[in-house]
Amino acid sequence: MKLFLDTAHLADIETAVGWGVLDGITTNPTLAAKEGLAFHDLIKAITDLVDGPVSAEVVSDEPEEMVRQGHTLRAIADNVVVKVPMTRAGITAGSRLVADDIPINVTLVFSTAQAIIAATIGATFVSPFLGRVDDVGNDGLALLGDIVGTYAVQGYETEVLSASLRHPIHVVESARLGADAATMPFAVMDKLFDHPLT
Ligand code: E4P
Repeated sequence: MKLFLDTAHLADIETAVGWGVLDGITTNPTLAAKEGLAFHDLIKAITDLVDGPVSAEVVSDEPEEMVRQGHTLRAIADNVVVKVPMTRAGITAGSRLVADDIPINVTLVFSTAQAIIAATIGATFVSPFLGRVDDVGNDGLALLGDIVGTYAVQGYETEVLSASLRHPIHVVESARLGADAATMPFAVMDKLFDHPLT
């Protein structure tokens, strides 16, 4: 399972790159807004630090505008993956970006039905949000297991990117269940190192 950081904080990204354990980055508009840099400059700075996929999200409700933003984001660097929301507009835009050979990450996924839609349009990644599923009293890890199992039965090539992770057990169980990648806050990645007997 690949380890991604869910952050736009350059110092944390540099630290994880230094550890040699970082396979990629996911960002979202909330994370990017905290950094005080223009969005495109921030994504460029992240892609300068990280060789693996860097997910950058479109911000519009309208498919044409999402496609336009997706092309602009992808022009920043070859490792940019365009994040589109799991909405009808997001899927409309996502399928057009895939047709234009732009890799996409379908985000805000909360059901296996939605994950099937993401795979059907040829998304590179699908992001089920485990922590937010847990927040509303459901079982995020059970959802992840169902998506991984369904994708295996169908032979879908979309990679399952376990997201909205809140603690190390989310990461460990994502690996056990067969997620292709897990994206986590820096604090969670940092905790993966620790054991009182070490
Ligand atoms: C993933 O791509 C998302 O940015 C992220 O995991 C959302 O996590 P949150 O539920 O902690 O906001």
